[in-house]
Amino acid sequence: MVMIWSVSVFILVLLAVSTLALVANGENKMIKVKKVKGKKVCTQGWECTISDYFQVDQFEQLFAKRNTPIAHDVGFWDYQTFITAAALYEPLGFGTTGGKLMGQKEMAAFLGHVASKTSCAYGVATGGPLAWGLCYNREMSPMQSYCDESWKYKYPCSPGAEYYGRGALRIYWNFNYSAAGEALKADLLNHPEYIEQNATLAFQAAI
Ligand SMILES: *[C@@H]1O[C@H](CO)[C@@H](O)[C@H](O)[C@H]1NC(C)=O
Ligand SMILES: *[C@@H]1O[C@H](CO)[C@@H](O)[C@H](O)[C@H]1NC(C)=O
Repeated sequence: MVMIWSVSVFILVLLAVSTLALVANGENKMIKVKKVKGKKVCTQGWECTISDYFQVDQFEQLFAKRNTPIAHDVGFWDYQTFITAAALYEPLGFGTTGGKLMGQKEMAAFLGHVASKTSCAYGVATGGPLAWGLCYNREMSPMQSYCDESWKYKYPCSPGAEYYGRGALRIYWNFNYSAAGEALKADLLNHPEYIEQNATLAFQAAI
């Protein structure tokens, strides 16, 4: 009898302790942002944003050649637009999950992918081909308008609209423009050209 009683007290105490720990953790997550010498320390992910560890000079180094004369979209892409675009996805975990190092790796992977898809240099160009990333925002000589008629009831192509590749990672076809437009609350089915006019949208569609 005494045995059973003390075991159940022990279990109760254990339960209480773990509940307390949970509460304490919960509070930590709400309020505690660690700082070292005035700088936020990103250990959890939830307290940081991409601009805490990825800044304009890094963006400029990565895409150093994007505004040179051979680029096809001079002045289109910039750091601020990327950060604005990313802000839509940070609350969902983009660049904010798993701590600072993980965030940096994620940015490197994402932007490396973007650079490889938008590069206008091949082989042994100065700085390597990736330094020439973001020098396109669209497919230059589309061979067709990428209107898939089999989607004509659900996603009818808009007269005159062309669904060739656009963006930081290219979107093609009426179907994909429509899906991206629904996600981004922009009428991309009727205005696919928004992606080559608005760099925020162009980054958001890629992210
Ligand atoms: C777009 O849609 C087609 C099929 O409708 C698919 O093959 C293609 O990979 C999609 N993705 C992009 C990014 O265009
Ligand atoms: C570009 O797209 C973003 C995101 O949808 C929007 O907030 C912004 O107003 C657009 N900019 C212009 C110039 O239309």
